Amino acid sequence: MVSVCILQAASGEPAGVSRVLGSDSCATSGCHGGAGLNRGAYHIWKRSDPHSKASATLTNGQSAAIARQMGIASAVESASCTACHAPLRNVEPSLFTPDSKAKAEDFSCANCHGGAENWILSHTRPDYPKAALEKLGMRPLGSAYQRANNCVACHQNLSDELVKAKHPPLLFELDGLLLDEPKHWREDADFSHAQTWLVGQAVALREAAAQAAREPGDARTAEIEAIRELLAASGTGWDGAAGTDLVRTADDFAKKISAAPMTSAQSRAALDKLMSHRKPFEVGAFDKVAGEYRMWAVGYYAERVALAIDRLNQSAIAAGEKTAFAESALDELFKAAQPPKSFDADAADHFVRKLDQLADSHVQ
Ligand code: HEC
Ligand code: HEC
Ligand code: HEC
Repeated sequence: MVSVCILQAASGEPAGVSRVLGSDSCATSGCHGGAGLNRGAYHIWKRSDPHSKASATLTNGQSAAIARQMGIASAVESASCTACHAPLRNVEPSLFTPDSKAKAEDFSCANCHGGAENWILSHTRPDYPKAALEKLGMRPLGSAYQRANNCVACHQNLSDELVKAKHPPLLFELDGLLLDEPKHWREDADFSHAQTWLVGQAVALREAAAQAAREPGDARTAEIEAIRELLAASGTGWDGAAGTDLVRTADDFAKKISAAPMTSAQSRAALDKLMSHRKPFEVGAFDKVAGEYRMWAVGYYAERVALAIDRLNQSAIAAGEKTAFAESALDELFKAAQPPKSFDADAADHFVRKLDQLADSHVQ
């Protein structure tokens, strides 16, 4: 598929293809370069979106060190880095309109919204159907599943080479990621943190499984087993029996969860299940994971369950529940899961103690 990104998620509907305009095409004051949320998308992006600075990162000392480890002459010039940090540099010239300023941009609106040449005129008409815009190459980003497919391409998998060269580890958690990105859009009233979290975890599992098929390894197995355990423990209907095609099962699950609204009672039930789940910390847990990597699986589980509790707690806050946990207690729980790669029995005990304390602090 021809695309504005060389990295693609392992699944997801291909959008139509439309050539890439520069972000200046979106930035006039009557469009997205004015005041207010929708009209101010361009300014929010330029001023505070981490992606507008992602290519500058490639010129810093940390990038030089990673590049040296990998034997790359220049991080800025190498597709090993620009694939995620400056994706427009990898776009075939024929995919830019002749006068597109995007040729000089590294990361732009098009990397999430799709090239705009074919839909820029019609998308301003309120009566124009969304499905027709999608056929013209506008990337749908309304549902958790659609968003996950876009964001995960750059936010979960690192090649073995990048891991060895000490690139910061990536962990895909969609709800937190969306929260950390300065919003240039407004969420619908039925937006659910819990649903966004769960869809994100299923998509993270799908991508990890797809990568394991290309680049198998014990650390990857540990991560996959940790996410499977998390999904199973959440009591949300995950049935990823061993031997099934994990990429497909996880993708189907993500789609199913994304399609139906998630109630606050369902979110609450998942939170209670995860809070009381201790099996991963018992002797003999993760017995599919070999040798020293077994403790990694415990660490990966701890890290993901700490994030899960945080996001499900956010759902409880949004639903106006009085039982929400204090932010500081959640921070402590997350810290107790760091760094997951050097988990040992003491770290696991410490984490369980923090989990117990959090459960006790729960006002019924
Ligand atoms: C083409 C690759 C790509 C896509 C697609 C992408 N990102 Fe990113 N994102 C990056 C890179 C690279 C960075 C690191 C920026 C830097 O150098 O500091 C980043 C950083 C971030 C950060 C700040 C760091 C952090 O982890 O908190 C957030 C938040 C973020 N992205 C959210 C998102 C969301 C939400 C989506 C989907 C709607 C998304 N990204 C899609 C490449 C991408
Ligand atoms: C698969 C996508 C991907 C690739 C390929 C990639 N990065 Fe990153 N990189 C990211 C994301 C996403 C982040 C943000 C991580 C976070 O903060 O959660 C990041 C963060 C970083 C950071 C830390 C930035 C900060 O502000 O803390 C550096 C430095 C970096 N990358 C350098 C590189 C270099 C150099 C290469 C090539 C050798 C490279 N990256 C390749 C996705 C990628
Ligand atoms: C990292 C990915 C990312 C980048 C880059 C990005 N956006 Fe967005 N944008 C989103 C997401 C996700 C939404 C929410 C879409 C939805 O809910 O339908 C959104 C929504 C919007 C909306 C609101 C649409 C609506 O239907 O409410 C506008 C307008 C917009 N973006 C403009 C821009 C412009 C202009 C740029 C470049 C300056 C840009 N975006 C860059 C991810 C991105």
